[in-house]
Amino acid sequence: MSKKILILPGDGIGPEIIAQAMKLLETLKHDFDLKITLEQGAIGGAGYDDCGHPLPEHTLKLAREADAILLGAVGGPQYDSLPRELRPERGLLGIRSALGLFANLRPAILYPQLAGASTLRAEVVSGLDIMIVRELTGGIYFGQPRGIRTREDGQREGFNTMIYTEAEIERIMRTAFDIALKRQRRVCSVDKANVLEVSELWREVAERVSKDYPEVSLSHLYVDNAAMQLVRAPKQFDVMVTSNLFGDVLSDIAAMLTGSIGMLPSASLDANGKGMYEPVHGSAPDIAGQDIANPLATILSVSMMLRYSLDEAALADTVDQAVSRVLAHGLRTGDIYTEGCERVGTQLMGDAVIEALRD
Ligand code: IPM
Ligand code: MG
Repeated sequence: MSKKILILPGDGIGPEIIAQAMKLLETLKHDFDLKITLEQGAIGGAGYDDCGHPLPEHTLKLAREADAILLGAVGGPQYDSLPRELRPERGLLGIRSALGLFANLRPAILYPQLAGASTLRAEVVSGLDIMIVRELTGGIYFGQPRGIRTREDGQREGFNTMIYTEAEIERIMRTAFDIALKRQRRVCSVDKANVLEVSELWREVAERVSKDYPEVSLSHLYVDNAAMQLVRAPKQFDVMVTSNLFGDVLSDIAAMLTGSIGMLPSASLDANGKGMYEPVHGSAPDIAGQDIANPLATILSVSMMLRYSLDEAALADTVDQAVSRVLAHGLRTGDIYTEGCERVGTQLMGDAVIEALRD
Protein backbone atom coordinates (compact mmCIF):
# COMPACT_ATOMS: atom_id res chain seq x y z
CA MET A 1 0.00 0.00 0.00
CA SER A 2 1.18 3.46 -0.86
CA LYS A 3 2.22 5.70 2.07
CA LYS A 4 1.11 9.31 2.22
CA ILE A 5 3.83 11.86 2.78
CA LEU A 6 3.00 15.46 3.53
CA ILE A 7 5.61 18.01 2.50
CA LEU A 8 5.70 21.33 4.36
CA PRO A 9 8.38 23.57 2.82
CA GLY A 10 7.81 26.53 5.16
CA ASP A 11 9.93 29.67 5.00
CA GLY A 12 13.39 31.03 4.20
CA ILE A 13 15.62 28.30 2.77
CA GLY A 14 12.82 25.78 3.48
CA PRO A 15 11.46 25.63 -0.09
CA GLU A 16 14.87 25.22 -1.76
CA ILE A 17 16.17 22.48 0.53
CA ILE A 18 12.80 20.71 0.40
CA ALA A 19 12.98 20.84 -3.41
CA GLN A 20 16.13 18.68 -3.21
CA ALA A 21 14.41 16.22 -0.88
CA MET A 22 11.43 16.03 -3.23
CA LYS A 23 13.68 15.25 -6.21
CA LEU A 24 15.15 12.48 -4.10
CA LEU A 25 11.74 11.12 -3.07
CA GLU A 26 10.53 11.19 -6.70
CA THR A 27 13.63 9.24 -7.73
CA LEU A 28 13.10 6.68 -4.97
CA LYS A 29 9.48 6.35 -6.08
CA HIS A 30 10.13 5.93 -9.79
CA ASP A 31 13.45 4.10 -9.83
CA PHE A 32 13.59 2.29 -6.48
CA ASP A 33 9.96 1.19 -6.19
CA LEU A 34 9.20 3.20 -3.06
CA LYS A 35 5.41 3.28 -2.71
CA ILE A 36 4.56 6.83 -1.74
CA THR A 37 2.27 9.68 -2.67
CA LEU A 38 3.38 13.24 -2.01
CA GLU A 39 1.18 16.11 -0.93
CA GLN A 40 2.09 19.67 -0.01
CA GLY A 41 0.85 22.06 2.63
CA ALA A 42 1.62 25.48 4.06
CA ILE A 43 3.05 26.10 7.52
CA GLY A 44 4.78 28.91 9.40
CA GLY A 45 5.03 32.24 7.62
CA ALA A 46 3.88 30.54 4.42
CA GLY A 47 0.74 29.40 6.25
CA TYR A 48 0.16 32.91 7.50
CA ASP A 49 0.62 34.37 4.01
CA ASP A 50 -1.77 31.80 2.49
CA CYS A 51 -4.51 31.61 5.10
CA GLY A 52 -3.71 34.06 7.89
CA HIS A 53 -2.51 31.35 10.31
CA PRO A 54 0.88 29.63 10.85
CA LEU A 55 -0.87 26.25 11.17
CA PRO A 56 -3.87 26.31 8.82
CA GLU A 57 -6.71 23.87 9.59
CA HIS A 58 -6.25 22.29 6.18
CA THR A 59 -2.56 21.63 6.84
CA LEU A 60 -3.32 20.03 10.19
CA LYS A 61 -5.94 17.82 8.53
CA LEU A 62 -3.46 16.69 5.87
CA ALA A 63 -0.88 16.08 8.62
CA ARG A 64 -3.28 13.88 10.58
CA GLU A 65 -4.00 11.83 7.46
CA ALA A 66 -0.35 11.46 6.45
CA ASP A 67 1.90 8.53 7.37
CA ALA A 68 4.88 10.85 7.62
CA ILE A 69 5.65 14.54 7.28
CA LEU A 70 8.72 16.28 5.89
CA LEU A 71 9.21 19.85 7.00
CA GLY A 72 11.72 22.46 5.80
CA ALA A 73 11.97 25.33 8.27
CA VAL A 74 9.82 28.15 9.59
CA GLY A 75 10.41 31.80 10.46
CA GLY A 76 11.56 35.08 8.98
CA PRO A 77 12.09 38.69 10.02
CA GLN A 78 8.99 39.87 8.13
CA TYR A 79 6.86 37.97 10.69
CA ASP A 80 8.61 39.21 13.84
CA SER A 81 6.10 41.95 14.56
CA LEU A 82 3.05 39.67 14.37
CA PRO A 83 1.26 38.81 17.61
CA ARG A 84 2.94 35.80 19.24
CA GLU A 85 0.13 33.36 18.38
CA LEU A 86 0.48 34.15 14.66
CA ARG A 87 4.25 33.86 14.44
CA PRO A 88 5.72 31.07 12.29
CA GLU A 89 7.22 29.21 15.29
CA ARG A 90 3.69 28.74 16.62
CA GLY A 91 2.93 26.64 13.55
CA LEU A 92 5.82 24.33 14.30
CA LEU A 93 5.09 24.05 18.02
CA GLY A 94 1.39 23.62 17.20
CA ILE A 95 1.88 20.70 14.83
CA ARG A 96 4.32 18.96 17.23
CA SER A 97 1.77 19.27 20.01
CA ALA A 98 -1.38 18.48 17.99
CA LEU A 99 0.15 15.27 16.63
CA GLY A 100 1.68 14.24 19.96
CA LEU A 101 5.21 14.10 18.51
CA PHE A 102 6.86 13.83 21.91
CA ALA A 103 10.11 12.09 21.00
CA ASN A 104 12.61 14.16 19.07
CA LEU A 105 15.64 12.22 17.84
CA ARG A 106 18.61 14.31 16.80
CA PRO A 107 21.58 12.19 15.73
CA ALA A 108 24.91 14.01 15.69
CA ILE A 109 27.18 11.95 13.48
CA LEU A 110 30.47 13.14 12.14
CA TYR A 111 31.14 12.05 8.59
CA PRO A 112 34.88 11.28 8.54
CA GLN A 113 35.20 13.42 5.40
CA LEU A 114 34.12 16.46 7.46
CA ALA A 115 36.48 16.08 10.43
CA GLY A 116 38.35 19.16 9.22
CA ALA A 117 35.18 21.25 8.89
CA SER A 118 34.39 21.27 12.61
CA THR A 119 35.54 24.20 14.70
CA LEU A 120 36.86 21.60 17.16
CA ARG A 121 40.07 19.68 16.54
CA ALA A 122 39.60 16.64 14.32
CA GLU A 123 40.79 14.20 17.01
CA VAL A 124 38.15 15.50 19.43
CA VAL A 125 35.26 14.88 17.06
CA SER A 126 36.30 12.11 14.67
CA GLY A 127 34.16 9.03 15.17
CA LEU A 128 31.46 11.06 16.90
CA ASP A 129 28.06 9.33 17.01
CA ILE A 130 25.61 10.75 19.54
CA MET A 131 21.84 10.39 19.61
CA ILE A 132 20.11 13.23 21.42
CA VAL A 133 16.61 12.32 22.53
CA ARG A 134 14.76 15.53 23.29
CA GLU A 135 11.30 15.64 24.88
CA LEU A 136 9.27 17.76 22.46
CA THR A 137 5.70 18.35 23.60
CA GLY A 138 6.09 19.31 27.25
CA GLY A 139 8.29 21.21 29.64
CA ILE A 140 8.68 24.96 29.65
CA TYR A 141 7.72 25.23 25.98
CA PHE A 142 4.11 24.33 26.78
CA GLY A 143 3.77 24.65 30.57
CA GLN A 144 0.99 26.77 32.07
CA PRO A 145 0.75 29.37 33.46
CA ARG A 146 2.74 31.56 31.11
CA GLY A 147 2.54 35.15 30.01
CA ILE A 148 3.56 38.73 30.58
CA ARG A 149 1.64 40.61 33.26
CA THR A 150 1.79 43.89 35.13
CA ARG A 151 2.42 43.73 38.86
CA GLU A 152 0.79 45.95 41.44
CA ASP A 153 3.88 48.16 41.53
CA GLY A 154 3.49 48.80 37.80
CA GLN A 155 6.47 46.62 36.74
CA ARG A 156 5.82 44.12 34.01
CA GLU A 157 7.02 40.53 34.51
CA GLY A 158 7.32 37.61 32.12
CA PHE A 159 6.87 34.04 33.32
CA ASN A 160 6.83 30.45 32.11
CA THR A 161 6.40 27.12 33.83
CA MET A 162 8.73 24.16 33.50
CA ILE A 163 6.51 21.22 34.25
CA TYR A 164 6.64 17.46 33.59
CA THR A 165 4.32 14.68 34.68
CA GLU A 166 5.79 11.32 35.63
CA ALA A 167 4.07 9.80 32.58
CA GLU A 168 5.72 12.30 30.24
CA ILE A 169 9.15 11.62 31.73
CA GLU A 170 8.63 7.88 31.66
CA ARG A 171 7.71 7.68 27.98
CA ILE A 172 10.67 9.76 26.79
CA MET A 173 12.96 7.66 29.02
CA ARG A 174 11.62 4.47 27.48
CA THR A 175 12.27 5.89 24.00
CA ALA A 176 15.86 6.67 24.99
CA PHE A 177 16.48 3.27 26.59
CA ASP A 178 14.95 1.43 23.61
CA ILE A 179 17.25 3.33 21.26
CA ALA A 180 20.26 2.66 23.49
CA LEU A 181 19.58 -1.09 23.28
CA LYS A 182 20.39 -0.89 19.57
CA ARG A 183 23.53 1.20 20.15
CA GLN A 184 26.29 1.31 22.79
CA ARG A 185 23.78 0.78 25.63
CA ARG A 186 24.63 3.96 27.49
CA VAL A 187 22.08 6.62 28.39
CA CYS A 188 23.06 9.97 29.90
CA SER A 189 20.11 11.87 31.31
CA VAL A 190 20.59 15.63 31.45
CA ASP A 191 18.79 17.80 33.99
CA LYS A 192 19.26 20.58 36.53
CA ALA A 193 18.38 18.54 39.61
CA ASN A 194 20.64 20.63 41.86
CA VAL A 195 18.24 23.54 41.45
CA LEU A 196 14.90 22.51 39.91
CA GLU A 197 12.21 20.30 41.45
CA VAL A 198 11.03 19.33 37.98
CA SER A 199 14.50 17.90 37.39
CA GLU A 200 14.46 16.09 40.74
CA LEU A 201 11.39 14.19 39.56
CA TRP A 202 12.99 13.73 36.12
CA ARG A 203 15.99 12.02 37.72
CA GLU A 204 13.87 9.84 40.00
CA VAL A 205 11.77 8.57 37.08
CA ALA A 206 14.91 8.00 34.98
CA GLU A 207 16.30 5.76 37.74
CA ARG A 208 13.02 3.89 38.01
CA VAL A 209 12.74 3.24 34.27
CA SER A 210 16.37 2.12 34.10
CA LYS A 211 15.49 -0.86 36.34
CA ASP A 212 13.59 -2.29 33.35
CA TYR A 213 16.73 -2.04 31.23
CA PRO A 214 19.48 -3.86 33.15
CA GLU A 215 21.62 -4.07 29.97
CA VAL A 216 21.73 -0.27 29.63
CA SER A 217 23.86 1.90 31.90
CA LEU A 218 22.34 5.18 33.08
CA SER A 219 24.30 8.27 34.11
CA HIS A 220 23.18 11.79 34.98
CA LEU A 221 24.68 15.19 34.22
CA TYR A 222 23.60 18.68 35.08
CA VAL A 223 22.89 20.60 31.92
CA ASP A 224 25.69 23.15 32.41
CA ASN A 225 28.22 20.35 32.80
CA ALA A 226 26.69 18.47 29.85
CA ALA A 227 27.18 21.52 27.63
CA MET A 228 30.81 21.70 28.69
CA GLN A 229 31.40 17.96 28.23
CA LEU A 230 29.92 18.14 24.73
CA VAL A 231 32.67 20.47 23.59
CA ARG A 232 35.38 19.03 25.86
CA ALA A 233 35.05 15.31 25.12
CA PRO A 234 31.94 14.62 23.03
CA LYS A 235 32.82 11.02 22.23
CA GLN A 236 31.98 9.96 25.80
CA PHE A 237 28.28 10.12 24.87
CA ASP A 238 26.07 7.49 23.28
CA VAL A 239 22.42 8.44 23.94
CA MET A 240 21.58 11.71 25.72
CA VAL A 241 18.01 12.18 26.94
CA THR A 242 16.73 15.51 28.10
CA SER A 243 13.84 17.94 28.37
CA ASN A 244 12.49 20.23 25.69
CA LEU A 245 14.47 23.39 26.49
CA PHE A 246 17.75 21.70 27.42
CA GLY A 247 17.50 19.53 24.29
CA ASP A 248 17.00 22.59 22.12
CA VAL A 249 20.26 24.08 23.37
CA LEU A 250 22.34 20.90 23.52
CA SER A 251 21.35 19.80 20.02
CA ASP A 252 22.61 23.05 18.53
CA ILE A 253 25.95 22.50 20.30
CA ALA A 254 26.08 18.91 19.08
CA ALA A 255 25.31 20.09 15.56
CA MET A 256 28.41 22.23 15.44
CA LEU A 257 30.56 19.26 16.46
CA THR A 258 29.62 17.62 13.17
CA GLY A 259 31.03 20.49 11.14
CA SER A 260 27.85 22.38 10.42
CA ILE A 261 24.29 22.60 11.61
CA GLY A 262 23.53 22.07 7.92
CA MET A 263 24.29 18.35 8.40
CA LEU A 264 21.85 17.46 11.19
CA PRO A 265 18.52 15.73 10.51
CA SER A 266 15.81 15.01 13.06
CA ALA A 267 12.78 12.83 13.61
CA SER A 268 9.85 13.71 15.86
CA LEU A 269 7.82 10.62 16.66
CA ASP A 270 4.48 9.92 18.30
CA ALA A 271 3.66 6.86 20.39
CA ASN A 272 2.97 4.79 17.23
CA GLY A 273 6.04 5.70 15.19
CA LYS A 274 4.30 8.24 12.99
CA GLY A 275 6.79 10.99 12.47
CA MET A 276 7.64 14.42 11.29
CA TYR A 277 11.13 14.83 9.84
CA GLU A 278 13.02 18.09 9.62
CA PRO A 279 16.52 19.47 9.51
CA VAL A 280 17.67 20.82 12.89
CA HIS A 281 18.75 24.13 11.36
CA GLY A 282 16.31 26.98 10.92
CA SER A 283 15.02 29.00 7.98
CA ALA A 284 18.25 31.06 7.56
CA PRO A 285 16.48 34.00 5.87
CA ASP A 286 19.82 35.73 5.28
CA ILE A 287 20.86 33.13 2.72
CA ALA A 288 17.43 32.21 1.32
CA GLY A 289 16.95 32.12 -2.43
CA GLN A 290 20.66 32.19 -3.24
CA ASP A 291 21.15 28.48 -3.93
CA ILE A 292 23.85 28.21 -1.26
CA ALA A 293 22.03 26.41 1.60
CA ASN A 294 23.17 22.90 2.50
CA PRO A 295 20.38 20.42 1.60
CA LEU A 296 22.06 17.44 3.31
CA ALA A 297 20.28 17.78 6.68
CA THR A 298 16.96 17.60 4.81
CA ILE A 299 18.13 14.71 2.64
CA LEU A 300 19.27 12.88 5.78
CA SER A 301 15.85 13.63 7.29
CA VAL A 302 14.35 11.72 4.35
CA SER A 303 16.63 8.85 5.30
CA MET A 304 15.33 8.95 8.88
CA MET A 305 11.78 8.94 7.50
CA LEU A 306 12.55 5.83 5.46
CA ARG A 307 13.96 4.15 8.57
CA TYR A 308 11.48 5.15 11.26
CA SER A 309 8.12 5.64 9.50
CA LEU A 310 8.25 3.77 6.19
CA ASP A 311 10.00 0.59 7.28
CA GLU A 312 12.56 0.95 4.46
CA ALA A 313 15.87 0.52 6.29
CA ALA A 314 17.71 -0.69 3.18
CA LEU A 315 16.69 2.40 1.21
CA ALA A 316 17.69 4.58 4.15
CA ASP A 317 21.14 2.97 4.02
CA THR A 318 21.27 3.68 0.29
CA VAL A 319 20.59 7.38 0.90
CA ASP A 320 23.12 7.59 3.75
CA GLN A 321 25.77 5.96 1.58
CA ALA A 322 25.00 8.31 -1.30
CA VAL A 323 25.58 11.30 1.01
CA SER A 324 28.80 9.76 2.22
CA ARG A 325 30.00 9.20 -1.37
CA VAL A 326 29.22 12.75 -2.42
CA LEU A 327 31.28 14.02 0.50
CA ALA A 328 34.06 11.59 -0.37
CA HIS A 329 34.07 13.03 -3.91
CA GLY A 330 34.86 16.40 -2.32
CA LEU A 331 31.59 18.22 -2.98
CA ARG A 332 30.80 20.86 -0.35
CA THR A 333 28.28 23.62 0.19
CA GLY A 334 29.75 26.80 1.70
CA ASP A 335 29.01 25.85 5.34
CA ILE A 336 31.17 22.70 5.18
CA TYR A 337 33.73 23.93 2.67
CA THR A 338 37.41 23.38 3.37
CA GLU A 339 40.32 24.11 1.08
CA GLY A 340 40.84 21.73 -1.81
CA CYS A 341 37.17 20.74 -2.03
CA GLU A 342 34.68 21.60 -4.76
CA ARG A 343 32.19 24.25 -3.73
CA VAL A 344 28.66 23.55 -5.00
CA GLY A 345 25.23 25.09 -4.53
CA THR A 346 22.02 23.65 -3.12
CA GLN A 347 20.71 22.19 -6.38
CA LEU A 348 23.98 20.66 -7.51
CA MET A 349 24.42 19.03 -4.11
CA GLY A 350 20.89 17.58 -4.38
CA ASP A 351 21.58 16.29 -7.90
CA ALA A 352 24.88 14.76 -6.81
CA VAL A 353 23.22 12.75 -4.02
CA ILE A 354 20.60 11.42 -6.45
CA GLU A 355 23.33 10.49 -8.92
CA ALA A 356 25.28 8.71 -6.15
CA LEU A 357 22.28 6.54 -5.25
CA ARG A 358 23.19 4.32 -8.18
CA ASP A 359 26.96 4.14 -7.61
C1 IPM B 1 14.27 23.62 16.97
C2 IPM B 1 13.94 25.08 16.83
C3 IPM B 1 12.54 25.32 17.36
C4 IPM B 1 12.52 24.93 18.83
C5 IPM B 1 12.02 26.75 17.16
C6 IPM B 1 12.08 27.18 15.70
C7 IPM B 1 10.63 26.93 17.70
O1 IPM B 1 14.90 25.84 17.48
O2 IPM B 1 13.55 22.78 16.39
O3 IPM B 1 15.27 23.29 17.63
O4 IPM B 1 12.87 25.74 19.70
O5 IPM B 1 12.14 23.79 19.12
MG1 MG C 1 16.58 24.73 18.21
